[in-house]
Amino acid sequence: MNEQFSILKTDAEVRTRLKELAADISKDFQHIQPDNPLLVLCTLRGAVFFAADLVRALSIPCEINFIKVKSYQGTRPVGSPIFELGEQIDVKGREVLIIEDIVDTGQTMDTVIKNFNDKGAVSIRIATMLDKPSRRYPHLRATILPDYIGFSIEDYFVVGWGLDYNEDYRLLPDIMIYHPDAET
Ligand code: IMP
Repeated sequence: MNEQFSILKTDAEVRTRLKELAADISKDFQHIQPDNPLLVLCTLRGAVFFAADLVRALSIPCEINFIKVKSYQGTRPVGSPIFELGEQIDVKGREVLIIEDIVDTGQTMDTVIKNFNDKGAVSIRIATMLDKPSRRYPHLRATILPDYIGFSIEDYFVVGWGLDYNEDYRLLPDIMIYHPDAET
């Protein structure tokens, strides 16, 4: 691995933390019954590995579905996030857990939560592998507060464990800080 990357969290650290989060979530949702399982919405594509491992570590009934919201180009957010998949998922009467790879400005989660609140979800919680609170848009600081956070990190652009830079580096096993300026 060259000087473009430095390790922020190792694969082992992520896996250990993931088990802790699964225990917390299972405890908080122990009232969930099989006839109305927890509806887990995994955001594509970045959260797919984290969500797959997290749901399999839960000890409560759950159903998994996928949403896709376009919000990033390279290392920069693009205007307002747009649903590309899952906007119409039926959440009426359901407890919903959104699994996200990283919460940054908060605008993606704001869009998602507003959409599903309007469609009658009983509750909506967020589990995110990473949170970058210093990047939150000021108007979302009080509202976009993930319920389950793997790691709270500084303002780095990170790749690996599902996170990409223009579709590259998703499969890196560790979470790495990416320094695009170091590219040759
Ligand atoms: P937000 O809407 O600004 O909170 O951004 C959320 C989305 O931006 C995430 O789901 C990621 O797809 C992308 N994103 C934000 N920060 C990073 C990063 O450091 N690496 C890779 N993707 C990121």
